[in-house]
Amino acid sequence: MRFLTVLGARPQFIKAAAVTRAIAEHNRNHPERPIHEEIIHTGQHYDHGMSQVFFDEMEIPAPAANLNIGSGPHGAMTGAMLAGLEREMLHRRPDRVLVYGDTNSTLAGALAAAKLHIPVAHVEAGLRSFNRAMPEEINRIVADHVADLLLCPSENARRQLEREGITRGAHVIGDVMYDAFLHYQAKAIVPGRPGPFALATIHRAENTDDPARLANILHALERSPVPVVLPLHPRTRKILDHQGIRPNHRVELREPLSYFDILGHLRACAFVITDSGGLQKEAYFAGKKCITARDQTEWVELTALDANRLGGDLSGDVDALFAWALSPGVFHETLYGDGRASVKCVEILLNAGFQQDV
Ligand code: UD1
Repeated sequence: MRFLTVLGARPQFIKAAAVTRAIAEHNRNHPERPIHEEIIHTGQHYDHGMSQVFFDEMEIPAPAANLNIGSGPHGAMTGAMLAGLEREMLHRRPDRVLVYGDTNSTLAGALAAAKLHIPVAHVEAGLRSFNRAMPEEINRIVADHVADLLLCPSENARRQLEREGITRGAHVIGDVMYDAFLHYQAKAIVPGRPGPFALATIHRAENTDDPARLANILHALERSPVPVVLPLHPRTRKILDHQGIRPNHRVELREPLSYFDILGHLRACAFVITDSGGLQKEAYFAGKKCITARDQTEWVELTALDANRLGGDLSGDVDALFAWALSPGVFHETLYGDGRASVKCVEILLNAGFQQDV
């Protein structure tokens, strides 16, 4: 069976690494029923530190093609990806298309496959922020509504799909990011810095593109009781450079971290401050509290357990948030599967029967 995997942005490389490993495991165990996977990189993320380093570290097979569509307005970017992916799908004739998460690459991949009647699986289906001002919310709603297989990280996500009338093809598999987190623990690169620190990332358009919000967030980071390590997404770096903003010495700016570096920083940090979806979960996996610099989160299981608190733009009582983040938390509940989500994903893709298969 032929799988075509659409990737483009950093978190998708991590998710796909887990599934690609599960495909290799399947091929070892079932040589009579091999899966041939081809990766198409849209090029949405293109800096070495945002893309290639993940392929290298996690030994993800090189993409069969790179569409080199990075940057640009959303419509132009998604439209160009749609055209490019359609061409690749027509040429490669896959039996299944896999898309991950909620980026423009996800939307383009899901639409291209659906229009060609190729069964498409959406990994990380059923998540909602209920905030349609976020590009990610539009991407995930459309992807879920055109996908044939909806692979949900949690029961909450599956129930959300049900509320939207989607029941066929929906499965709870757990989170493939958890699989990756467990598997690559031994490779974590723990930073050698002395003393406690907080790990922070800020990259969401809703935060970076609103100068007042960005200023509030940076101001809060400067007040942190422990130094803050802030690896900068290129979007955030460009905006800080453009506006001539330099946070005070409390905030240590870094280049984007590789996956093994992130795992090491998660292990060593006191707590996490982020607007990333992936890092909110990874903080929980690592047993660290997370202050989320957003007004909503899709990962409602984390806030329900009080492992994660929403801080908006951190202009409220941030000292109380820091005190909470430094106090002990409870992390023993298994929220997102058993570390075998990617194996389940592959089994479901193989065993789901579609008209197109005959
Ligand atoms: C995208 C996703 C977001 C996800 C994030 C993960 C969409 C709408 N958003 O946001 O959901 O959380 O990826 O990181 O798909 N840039 C570089 N070098 C790179 C990558 C980006 O300079 O390697 C620049 C781009 O040129 C652009 C900005 O960063 O100016 C934003 O990149 P873009 O891919 O549009 O969205 P992200 O903010 O990365």
